[in-house]
Amino acid sequence: MEKGAAKKIVMSGIRPTGFLHLGNYFGALANYVKMQNEYDCFFMVADLHALTTLPDTKELKTNVARVLAENIASGLDPDKAALYCQSHVPETSDLYLLLNMMAYKGELEKTVTFKEKVKLQPNNVNAGLLTYPVLMAADILLHRAELVPVGKDQEQHLEMTRTFGNRFNHRYGHVFPEAQAFNFGEELLKVPSLDGAGKMSKSENQFATIYLSDDDELIRKKVMKAKTESGGSEAGAPMAESVANLINLMKLVGTPSDAIASYEKAYFDGSIRYGDMKKQLAEDMVKFISPIREKAEAIRNDEKYLKEIMEKGAAKARKSAQATMLQVKDAMGLNY
Ligand code: TYM
Repeated sequence: MEKGAAKKIVMSGIRPTGFLHLGNYFGALANYVKMQNEYDCFFMVADLHALTTLPDTKELKTNVARVLAENIASGLDPDKAALYCQSHVPETSDLYLLLNMMAYKGELEKTVTFKEKVKLQPNNVNAGLLTYPVLMAADILLHRAELVPVGKDQEQHLEMTRTFGNRFNHRYGHVFPEAQAFNFGEELLKVPSLDGAGKMSKSENQFATIYLSDDDELIRKKVMKAKTESGGSEAGAPMAESVANLINLMKLVGTPSDAIASYEKAYFDGSIRYGDMKKQLAEDMVKFISPIREKAEAIRNDEKYLKEIMEKGAAKARKSAQATMLQVKDAMGLNY
């Protein structure tokens, strides 16, 4: 970066709706940790978004503490990045309300995540669920962020954020930059589940998802049950998806590249032993996850420490949010 140039602003969030997994880690957290050294970062726990699917708040406090702890255990430094809780920044709700006037019912109803949720919870199709992308746009636009580290499943929400921001700019004057989804690799990630169907998820596919809180034995058990193709492959055919998924997971958790190359070769010449391959993947995952799990466990119950971090993070986030809201209200003429 040029000397004296302002740092780009980065914003992202994770819902406290369950245990974090390798998808959250590689899609989001790993990027947060790298970005905190280069950019001006705002990372939050999206507790208001969680209410769109989990009206029962009994577990919320525990879940918020765990997400915070897992952020820090993954390497996030609360002295570098602002780490806060969404509901502690009330300017989020102010901007959400104003942005609702930039969002049309038809486009909200077409959102893929909305359609999925309608199927999952037909008896609770609340307005918060419909306007979920507007709240997410408010999170991002509130800091005038340009880069948003997320997994592939959030791509459409980012597109909608740009639409709402551009509509605002068009109508009232330029306030918001265009936010882009970001990953340090070439593409946004979708970390696959171990059953060969879909992605790792906080609430579905639990035996095919590796959580950052899984103990060593559970990791081994899950990996040994992972789906693989029986037999080798036909000449010239691409690698079966379930096996390619395991190879991808090996790359993510740091299996040495010569070992990966030998499994790939064995797959194509028909000599692959899936048991050996899974054992290697399991041990590499255990090595990768156990330090994060242990660190998170130590932090999770330290209420005082987590409270201090949340307060410090919210103060920094509110400062940035208030500066944006002044510009927003000026642009809209809501400045009397
Ligand atoms: P959430 O809580 O579902 O997931 C948190 C982050 O993890 C990523 N992710 C994955 N990446 C790769 N492979 C997977 N299998 C996988 N599963 C989850 C998600 O893409 C996400 O980056 N709407 C957001 C939360 C949010 C937000 C924001 C994000 C609220 N406001 C503002 C960015 C900016 C969500 O539900 O993420």
